[in-house]
Amino acid sequence: MKRITILLAALLAAAVPTEARKAKKFVHETVEIPSVEPQVIAVETENTQLLLGVLGNRQVVIRHYGQPVANPSQFLEFNGVAAEAYPAAGGTFMGEPALHVKYADGTHNTELRYVGHKVESASGVAKTTIQMKDYVTGLQVNLIYEAYRKENVISAHTEILNPGKKAVGLENYASALMRLEGDDFLLTHFHGGWAYEMQTSREMLDFGTKVIESRRGTQATQTENPSFMVSLGKEFSETSGAVVAGALAWSGNFRIAFERDETGRLNILGGISPFASAYPLAGGASFETPAMLWTYSAEGAGGASRNLHRWARNYGIYGGGAVNPTLLNSWEGAYFTFNTSTLTGMIDDAAAMGLEMFVLDDGWFGEKYPRNSDRTSLGDWEPNTSKIPEGIDYLASYAHERGLKFGIWIEPEMVSGVSVLAETHPEWVVQSPGRQLYEARWQWVLDLSNPDVQDFVFGIFDRTMQLAPGIDYIKWDCNRPIYSFGSTYLGNEQDRFYVEYVQGLYSVMRRIREKYPKVLVQCCSSGGARVDYGAMKYCNEFWTSDNTDAISRVRIQYATSMIYPACAMASHVSAVPNHQSGNITPLKMRFDMAAAGRLGMELQPKNLTPEERALADRCIKSYRGFRDVVFGGDLYRLTDPYDSDYYAFMYVSEDKSKAVVFAFCLRYQNRATGGHPFALQGLDPSRSYKVTEQNVDSSCWWGNGKSFTGDFLMSGSAFNPVLHQTNASAIFVLEG
Ligand code: GLA
Repeated sequence: MKRITILLAALLAAAVPTEARKAKKFVHETVEIPSVEPQVIAVETENTQLLLGVLGNRQVVIRHYGQPVANPSQFLEFNGVAAEAYPAAGGTFMGEPALHVKYADGTHNTELRYVGHKVESASGVAKTTIQMKDYVTGLQVNLIYEAYRKENVISAHTEILNPGKKAVGLENYASALMRLEGDDFLLTHFHGGWAYEMQTSREMLDFGTKVIESRRGTQATQTENPSFMVSLGKEFSETSGAVVAGALAWSGNFRIAFERDETGRLNILGGISPFASAYPLAGGASFETPAMLWTYSAEGAGGASRNLHRWARNYGIYGGGAVNPTLLNSWEGAYFTFNTSTLTGMIDDAAAMGLEMFVLDDGWFGEKYPRNSDRTSLGDWEPNTSKIPEGIDYLASYAHERGLKFGIWIEPEMVSGVSVLAETHPEWVVQSPGRQLYEARWQWVLDLSNPDVQDFVFGIFDRTMQLAPGIDYIKWDCNRPIYSFGSTYLGNEQDRFYVEYVQGLYSVMRRIREKYPKVLVQCCSSGGARVDYGAMKYCNEFWTSDNTDAISRVRIQYATSMIYPACAMASHVSAVPNHQSGNITPLKMRFDMAAAGRLGMELQPKNLTPEERALADRCIKSYRGFRDVVFGGDLYRLTDPYDSDYYAFMYVSEDKSKAVVFAFCLRYQNRATGGHPFALQGLDPSRSYKVTEQNVDSSCWWGNGKSFTGDFLMSGSAFNPVLHQTNASAIFVLEG
C-alpha cells in the first residue's frame, strides 16, 4: 500500500508542470485545401452508369454504379455514406487503401483531392481523366475511366506521378476501386490448378475481406483467374439479377479484394499485388497501373458475359473476333518422338481432313542438347538437324503447298538447366543470392526485368519467324511459376522485380506486334495459366487447358466463357483414354466440345479408324460452316453444368439470322422423361429458323430439318432433343 502511495505521488508531481517544464504553445501548420463547388461526373455507356461525386472538400467519391439514372445531378445533395473512388492510406481513411505511399521522409500519409477533370471522346469510347493530388506532398494521381459505349464496359486505371525530386515508395497501387451498395453479395470466382483451370466457386460475401490473388509471378492464372462476377442481391441466374463482373488486365501477381466494411457495403479493389513489390517511384517519374475492366448487367451472368465478350472482340483481344484457322497440333500425337516423315504424315492427314493449319509443338530444337524430353534445351532455339535434317522451312513449305498454314511452338521465357544458354548466361536466370535454384519441369525462368533478356527473348521470336518464309502462327508457352524471385540486374531494387518482369514481357510483345502485326499468336502457359486480358492485348487466342478431355472441358469452358469469348478459346480433339483424365468419351462429344471454341485436333490421325476419320472429316466441314457464329456471335448459356445434368449453350449472330446450339448430357437420364426441353435464348421471336442437327444420320430432335419461329424455339417446351446417354451430345444450326 505504501509503495502505491509513493508511486501515485511521483506521478502526480510529474503531471504538474513546473515553471521550467512549462509546455510551449502547440503549433501545427496545416496546408490549406481550398474548397470547391460540388459536382457529379458521369461515366456512361449505353446501359450502365458510373457516377463519381466531387465533394466540397475535393474528395472524389463513388455515388453509383449500375442502371443509368436520368438526372445524375440529383446526387449533388445526397448525403449517403461516401466511398472514395481511389482511397489513399492517410487522413481519416482506415480501409483497404488503393494507394499507399511511403515518402522520402518516412511518412505514410496521402490525401488525394480533386484538381480537375476532362473528357475526351473518340468513336465509341469516352475517356474521363480525373486529376487529383495530395496538397502536402504534391503527389499527383490521374484516375482514368474509359467507357465503351456499345459494349457497356468501363476500363479503369490510374497514373501516379511523383513531381518531387526524391523517390517515393508505392506500397499499394491498385488499378481501381468499385463500391457496390446492397445487403447481399454472391461472389463467383474461378480457381483451379494445372489441367484443372477455371473451376467455378460461389460464396456469399460476409463482413471482412475476401481476397483472390496470385503470387506465382508467371503462370498467374493457373490457380485463380483475375476475374469474377458478383451479384447485387442474394442471387443471380444466367438471365436475371443485377451482376457486376470484373477482370484485371495483368499477367503477373494480382490481388482483388472484396471488402465488406462496417457499413455492409462492398468495396472491390483490384490491381497488381503489392506482395514484395513496394515500387520505388523516382522523382519526376510516373507509374501506370493495368486496367481493371468493369461491366454491369441487369440480365444476370449471361448479360455480363456478353458485354465482356463484345468488348474483347472489339478491343481486348489482338485481332479479336476474326476467325482463326482450325489446326492439327503435334503435341499429344507425337510428343517429343518424331522425325520429318512423322510430321509430313501429320500434315498430309491434316490437309486430307480439311484442317487449315499444322502446328509443330515442342521438341524441334536444340543441337548440342537435342530436345528429346522436357529435361533439356530450352534457350537453344536452333532447329535440331538430326530430327529434321530438311529444316523447318521444308516443313513449312510442305504445309503451305498442301494449302495449310504453318505454326511452331516456343517457350522463350525459359532456360533448361541443361542448355547452352544456361552455360553462357547464368546471370540471366531468376535467382536469389546463395539460394537454391529450384527447378520446375527441369527449367528456370529468364529474368525479363533485364533489358538484355528482353532483347534475347524478342530475338527468339524474331529468329523463329525467319526459320521459314511465311510462318503463320506462334504458340508462346510459359511452363513454370517463379520461385525464390530475384534479379542479378536489379541489384538492391528487388522490389521492382515482379512488376518489371511483366512490363518486360509486354514490351517484348509490343515489339513483336510492331514487326509482325499479322502473325497469329497463341498464349499458352501449361494450358490456361496465362488467360488474362493483359496478355490478350497481344495474342489472338489462348490455350484453355492441357486437359483436352471433353468431360473436364465442360466445367473449364463453362467458367472460361463467363469472362472470355469463344473466339479466343482454343479447344482440341484428342485421343482416348484421355492423356490427362483417363476418360473415354465418344469422338462426337470431343468434336462437339472443341467446336464451342477454336476447333483443333491434337492426336495422331493415323490412329483413327476409317469410321472415326469419316466422322472427323464431317465434323470439321460442318464446323467451318457455322464457326462464324462461334467467333463473332453472342453467347447464351442455357444450363449451368454445376446444377444440371446437361450443359447447353448457344451462340447467336449479331443480326440474329444464324445461331448454333450445343447440348451435352452429363449424366444418364431416365428414358421415361422423353427429350429434355431447353428454352433457347437470344433469337428473333418472329423470325423463322430452319433447324439442322450437325454430323448425324438420324437426329435426336423431332423438329430437325424443319423451320420454326424464334418464339416457339424459346418457349421452353418445344426444343427437346433426346440426349439420354452419358456424354451424348448434339449441335444444331439455326438459319433464318
Ligand atoms: C505445355 C503446353 C502443352 C505443350 C507442352 C509442350 O504443357 O501447355 O500444350 O505445348 O507444354 O512441352
